[in-house]
Amino acid sequence: MKILVATEKPFAKAAVDGIRKIVEGAGYELALLEKYTDKADLLAAVADADGLIVRSDKVTAEVVAAAQRLKIVVRAGAGYDNVDLAACTERGIVVMNTPGQNSNAVAELVVGMMIFMSRNQFTPGTGAEISGKRLGIHAYGNVGRIVARYGKALGMKVKAFDPFVDAAAMAADGVETAASIEELYATSDFLSLHIPATEQTKKSIGYALLSSMPKGATLVNTARKEVIDEAGLIRALEERTDLKYITDIAAEAQSLLCEKFGKRVFATSKKMGAETAEANINAGLAAANQTVDFLQNGNRRFQVNK
Ligand code: 3PG
Repeated sequence: MKILVATEKPFAKAAVDGIRKIVEGAGYELALLEKYTDKADLLAAVADADGLIVRSDKVTAEVVAAAQRLKIVVRAGAGYDNVDLAACTERGIVVMNTPGQNSNAVAELVVGMMIFMSRNQFTPGTGAEISGKRLGIHAYGNVGRIVARYGKALGMKVKAFDPFVDAAAMAADGVETAASIEELYATSDFLSLHIPATEQTKKSIGYALLSSMPKGATLVNTARKEVIDEAGLIRALEERTDLKYITDIAAEAQSLLCEKFGKRVFATSKKMGAETAEANINAGLAAANQTVDFLQNGNRRFQVNK
């Protein structure tokens, strides 16, 4: 059987070496498709694959149709909005993610981003300290929890909103619970977004929430660009000249944002939240282990299309 690792943004070499060891050790063949720029290359590479490991690579219905032997897709990472779940489910293909494996890397980036924006993007001028500021966490999952812990260690007052997490669990971490999304935004000097991109959340963060944020507030987005209503973001930034936006996923309108708002906005040049050797190794090896464990033993523990 053949396992294809298709990564437009490749894993670190140590992660690829580890994946190879696991896949070949289980008696399977490993195929690597890295840094591809043409979708046709992915369509050709999946044709004889039994398993597929990806990062943010788009596993569309077309890719699924081209992969007639495919049994499992593992998204080495948290968000699986890049995988057409319906197309996979229809073919009986199991889809998994590797929750938690790259969370620390993303959480560390959030801390860096807050400091970067508080210090004028590391250019001359008087900045501010993040200690003592209010940090709001929108969605208290694997990343949100670590961001909360780091925020507290830096002396921030941390509050979170997540309808799927008990207030008691947040209280046990020393984190206050916001009663509503509105309360969270209205009381956060820094707001760190950790919601997935779903039909319910797409474009859900817009003018009303952003313009309600306290004076000088910063929105930090290491989640997905799709959750932002960009027209609402632009309007809020126009009206509130004190608001700031930093993102790890460039907006559709990023060049306009930079042109209009200068240092009040920043986007990394390529999504780098999970770009650490550690995260690549954790997520890559977990993906390889999960693929092998499913093909050999039928273990579906991390299946997301049940
Ligand atoms: C995730 O959902 O795990 C992160 O967004 C990381 O995505 P990446 O593997 O494309 O860097």
